[in-house]
Amino acid sequence: MKNIGLIGCGNIAETYFRSQDYFNNINFVACADKFHEAAIKCAEQNKITALSVDEILKDKDIDIILNLTIPQAHFEVSKLALESGKHVYSEKPMSITYDDAKYLLELASKNNLYFGNAPDTFLGGGGQLSRELVDKDEIGKILTGNFIFAFPGVHEFHPNPESWFQVGGGPVIDMGPYFFTTLVNLLGPAKNVRARGKLFSNQREYLVGPKKGKFFDVEIPTSVMFDVEFVNEAIVQGFISFDVQNHARNHMELYGTKGSLVVPDPNMFGGPVQLSHELGSEWKDLSVEKKYLGKTNIINHSGRSNEAPRQSNYRGFGLAEMIYSIENNRKHRCNDQLALHVLDLIESTILAAESKKEIQLRSSCEQPKPITEEEIKILLK
Ligand SMILES: NC(=O)c1ccc[n+]([C@@H]2O[C@H](COP(=O)([O-])OP(=O)(O)OC[C@H]3O[C@@H](n4cnc5c(N)ncnc54)[C@H](O)[C@@H]3O)[C@@H](O)[C@H]2O)c1
Repeated sequence: MKNIGLIGCGNIAETYFRSQDYFNNINFVACADKFHEAAIKCAEQNKITALSVDEILKDKDIDIILNLTIPQAHFEVSKLALESGKHVYSEKPMSITYDDAKYLLELASKNNLYFGNAPDTFLGGGGQLSRELVDKDEIGKILTGNFIFAFPGVHEFHPNPESWFQVGGGPVIDMGPYFFTTLVNLLGPAKNVRARGKLFSNQREYLVGPKKGKFFDVEIPTSVMFDVEFVNEAIVQGFISFDVQNHARNHMELYGTKGSLVVPDPNMFGGPVQLSHELGSEWKDLSVEKKYLGKTNIINHSGRSNEAPRQSNYRGFGLAEMIYSIENNRKHRCNDQLALHVLDLIESTILAAESKKEIQLRSSCEQPKPITEEEIKILLK
């Protein structure tokens, strides 16, 4: 068991507190936020201690900092934590620039500290069953594929949506981590990307919260279309957008020489996975309800297009697996090499859209090892 201090007491914090009910080695002891009132409220709700950011970093009883701040603050907070001798597990993305994330990876390594990064959803039942089918050659060599994440934007439900529409935000930074991590899990590392981005409107209206009815500025493209070539030669097309009211497409489809696979929502842990072997044949639904981290555990509709109302959400598993890895001196699944490569994909997609040129990735990483039911069981309560 390691003691965890959380920095960034916003929307997603509650989900991480829930992970203490699922996993046996997560122990929150303190929280901090640049707005101290947010930390006080979070501490009261979860019966832990509210500290200032400075105090939490200096606290000798805290082993790991969980960084749940906004993407634009990830680098600064993670850097301070590593300099204070703490392991770090950060929400996605690792940072908003490749160079800063590379600095964090090197700092963690120099200080003999673990750096873990969300998303961990690819370790869920849906991601792992997809991986098993790919590894078993069920659809043959994967040649092509496509994916989509598209909805009207976070201002539909978030009272402070500005950072999603400013430099360091945007749909590729926000949702790219889930899709790129899932693709690297299934196909291995990528080698290049081509892209086109579009900013359709310079302003958006606040739709909820105290600023409802007022407008805020949009600084970045809110729809991006691109394609990625992987080292294994597969080419996958992506579309990530905050400009779509509704759609009816699958999250991700992969097309191989022996069949096709529908990969379930990379933003969630569940299934089903769908499989078809020939043109016109029926799609087989492969449930993951009986797999660990695949069972439906929340029933709520996020309002995002094409998300099922019954979902499996075991966020925090990557943190639990990192703690186990620290204690057993092994490599963690949601590691910094994987997160850096995913950030490289994100930044290269944005650069490709800006420059209208194919961008070669600077990094690579190991394809994460599949996780067994036994490995998961060790961490379950
Ligand atoms: N909200 C979601 O549904 C969701 C889901 C998955 C992942 N995430 C990720 O989680 C992270 C946080 O998202 P959120 O929705 O909780 O955001 P949020 O804006 O609701 O909360 C972020 C909190 O961090 C604090 N903060 C910002 N900069 C700080 C700094 N320098 N030092 C200390 N505190 C600071 C803010 O005051 C705020 O309380 C983001 O990286 C996001 O991508 C969010």
